[in-house]
Amino acid sequence: MKILKCVGLLAAVLAGSQSFAAQERVGDFNLIDETGTAHQLSKYGYQKALVIISQANSCITNQELFGEYRIQQTKWDNEQISFVMMNSSINDNSASVRRWKNSYNPDMPILIDDTQLVAELLGITKAGEIVVLDPNNMSILYRGPFDTPSRGGQTGTTFLKDTFAAIAADEVSGRDTVVVDFEAPESCQLEFPAKITSADDVPDYETEVAPVLIENCVGCHIEGGIGPFAMNSHQMVQGWSPMMREVIMTKRMPPMSVDPEIRSFENARTMSVEDTQTLIHWINAGAPRE
Ligand code: HEC
Repeated sequence: MKILKCVGLLAAVLAGSQSFAAQERVGDFNLIDETGTAHQLSKYGYQKALVIISQANSCITNQELFGEYRIQQTKWDNEQISFVMMNSSINDNSASVRRWKNSYNPDMPILIDDTQLVAELLGITKAGEIVVLDPNNMSILYRGPFDTPSRGGQTGTTFLKDTFAAIAADEVSGRDTVVVDFEAPESCQLEFPAKITSADDVPDYETEVAPVLIENCVGCHIEGGIGPFAMNSHQMVQGWSPMMREVIMTKRMPPMSVDPEIRSFENARTMSVEDTQTLIHWINAGAPRE
């Protein structure tokens, strides 16, 4: 990867350094927010950008900056830049996120990334980190912290605001992903136990993955079933695995797992957090036979 340092040493030491990496692309995803409303990246295609602020209830940075987030949101709203927060912390859940939202009232939806798979997809490792996405070509325009203010004679950073300005001016097409390193306080660190476990030891097809498929998918995806293909061999499942990842990340499969209208429907199926992680981590590893 070609990395280009382009800030002075002083700024680099104080506020993280900016680098450009070849434009990162991501697959589509769909998360529900704290009220149960679905947010799918591709459905933000009417906007120029979607800004995702990683949030955790414990994170001091989110608490200190929520007023600043609002200022940016108000400023860029007319330029077709949407702002959301996303909670990927294993210590929080929708109920605790709703309570946090009521006390800080950031006035933006908080997407619940309970499987942590969207944080993994976007390369988010800590709360306070911000990812700016182009929903039209599914690329990451920016990943890093909120800009640091100028203080006591030290110049602050404007990497994020520069990105917003470039988006508003339609100057980001084909641009490299801007990545800004930063240190986050202890209260904002995120843990990814499932990711670490499956990186050490890829889920086993026969004993871990097949039971998940049987439980969640094979009822329909069987010879003569209503699903368009049968998950009846490793070869078949491996061949379909990129498509399986897409339908799981966008909550299309198992069917009816997201539509709030149908949430109380008797046949509503949802796949557990653990099953979802097992399947996606296995697919990310290339869907191996063993
Ligand atoms: C209730 C029955 C049912 C269950 C359970 C189910 N599917 Fe499906 N699946 C279907 C039907 C019907 C279609 C074709 C219509 C559609 O694409 O919505 C389909 C289509 C698909 C497709 C093709 C999508 C495309 O765009 O061509 C994939 C991949 C898929 N399912 C994966 C899964 C996975 C993975 C699971 C388990 C997590 C699962 N399905 C569970 C019924 C089901």
